[in-house]
Amino acid sequence: MSEATPTTVTYDTADELASATADRLAAALASAQAARGTASVVLTGGRTGGAVLAALRSAALDWSSLDIYWGDERFLPAGDPERNETQARAALLDHVPVAPARVHAMAPSDGEFGDDPDAAAEAYAVLLKDVPTFDVCLLGVGEEGHTASIFPHSPAVLESARTVVAVRDCPKPPPTRVSLTLPRIRTAAAVWLMTTGAAKADAVAAALAGAAEQDIPAAGARGQRETLWILDRSAASAR
Ligand code: 6PG
Repeated sequence: MSEATPTTVTYDTADELASATADRLAAALASAQAARGTASVVLTGGRTGGAVLAALRSAALDWSSLDIYWGDERFLPAGDPERNETQARAALLDHVPVAPARVHAMAPSDGEFGDDPDAAAEAYAVLLKDVPTFDVCLLGVGEEGHTASIFPHSPAVLESARTVVAVRDCPKPPPTRVSLTLPRIRTAAAVWLMTTGAAKADAVAAALAGAAEQDIPAAGARGQRETLWILDRSAASAR
């Protein structure tokens, strides 16, 4: 499959980025719903992603016709404040009428798979077997170029067969996570990488200059139709 060449959009501030990206996401999902009667989105953890979700609360979407997935999850007990699901519910999902059965959270460490992240990853991979693509996959970017829970020179970034993997000894706490792999991320129609702040500028510049995904995993996050880097001026400052 050939993926879309990255394009960028830059905003003056993180607040402007969050508001504009929420509008952009609402439009993209509404367009999918108008065309197919349904839409799907992959959520990300992190501050930037959370700000976009909070800005989405007022969107005029058919929330009941939306499938919600995660690109990664911190492998912690259900309800733990550090879980991406917990943060997404606080920012958005508990404030809009989503269909509970269409919120597809990755298993917690005290759920049906117990404290086994490999089993949790395999279960999510099985769920995704019936999901050939996503309309929009939202991703954050780390200072060293990670995206989702795929870090440079890690087993996850080298994974070419599996779609969801357990991540251990993650440099960004908490250490144990579950993450989509780059091949699975690349099944999305649109991949949007959203990041702010000068600390991300070198990773952004390297990724957009064509860095190898083993060195800058975010460079390997591309959509089938669209790969959009959504930046504030600080994150775009090293280009
Ligand atoms: C996570 C995220 C991670 C995050 C980046 C950027 O679970 O931590 O999925 O990939 O998106 O680290 O985070 P910030 O937007 O907070 O810089």
